[in-house]
Amino acid sequence: MNRLDPIGVIDSGVGGLTVLKWLQEKMPHERFIFIGDTARTPYGNRSREEIQGFVGEMTAWLNRRNIKQLVVACNTITVLGTDVIKNGYDFSVIGMKKGAHMVEGVTRNKKVGFLATDFTVASGAHKKEIQEMDPEIQVFGQGCPKFVPLIEGEQFGSPELAAAIKEYTDKLKEYDVDTVMLSCTHYPFVEKEIREAFGPGVTILDPAERTVQAAMEDLKQRRLNRETGLGRAEVCFTADLERGKRLAARMLDMNQCDFRLIHL
Ligand code: DGL
Repeated sequence: MNRLDPIGVIDSGVGGLTVLKWLQEKMPHERFIFIGDTARTPYGNRSREEIQGFVGEMTAWLNRRNIKQLVVACNTITVLGTDVIKNGYDFSVIGMKKGAHMVEGVTRNKKVGFLATDFTVASGAHKKEIQEMDPEIQVFGQGCPKFVPLIEGEQFGSPELAAAIKEYTDKLKEYDVDTVMLSCTHYPFVEKEIREAFGPGVTILDPAERTVQAAMEDLKQRRLNRETGLGRAEVCFTADLERGKRLAARMLDMNQCDFRLIHL
């Protein structure tokens, strides 16, 4: 393993592009290989066994490309646990941050909400981490099964998306939360709309930047960070390459990316 090896990035679909954007910005010398499993998205309403199987295929593919680190740009996959994802490979695994250290000092009334897939909410991982840090914080998870199909389907500005946003944000508003985490990497595609639905009294947090910081620290510690050369991303989808490109154009600098359709 050496500094010139690429960094793998995975998601069930286009959501991970919201993390890849930060990775490219903060680590401009690195080469990234992103896989969005657009053929089988969404993962958030599947069984643990099924998700584990898909992840195993992605990590085996990336291992053949000699990645030095895997950034799991998906909360649903992250809650499977690092050991399960790592599966004995040599690369390090950086999962999505669950937000404990982000909400600290932000919430005033100690009522924190998070929007995520049903799988992520059911895992209880976010609530556990936040309450281990501060048991006084009440944590409310809201599953949002309609969001990923609408985002993958490019239904921006549609009445269906507006209705889904209202439905999920209204539920969290009932608990009087003052801080909300976007705990699914697809949701920053509609962050502006979610922010507007909550209004100015609620702080919206995206764990992507903190996750990228953790990835940078890991590489520095292992002396595997690249400090020279021009970075680039190879953006791979398992279906619908053209749709993937259109969604990527909303997030990434297209001049720094090459796109590919792959089969796992
Ligand atoms: N983007 C994903 C996440 O962060 C998964 C969405 C899905 O496939 O349901 O949870």
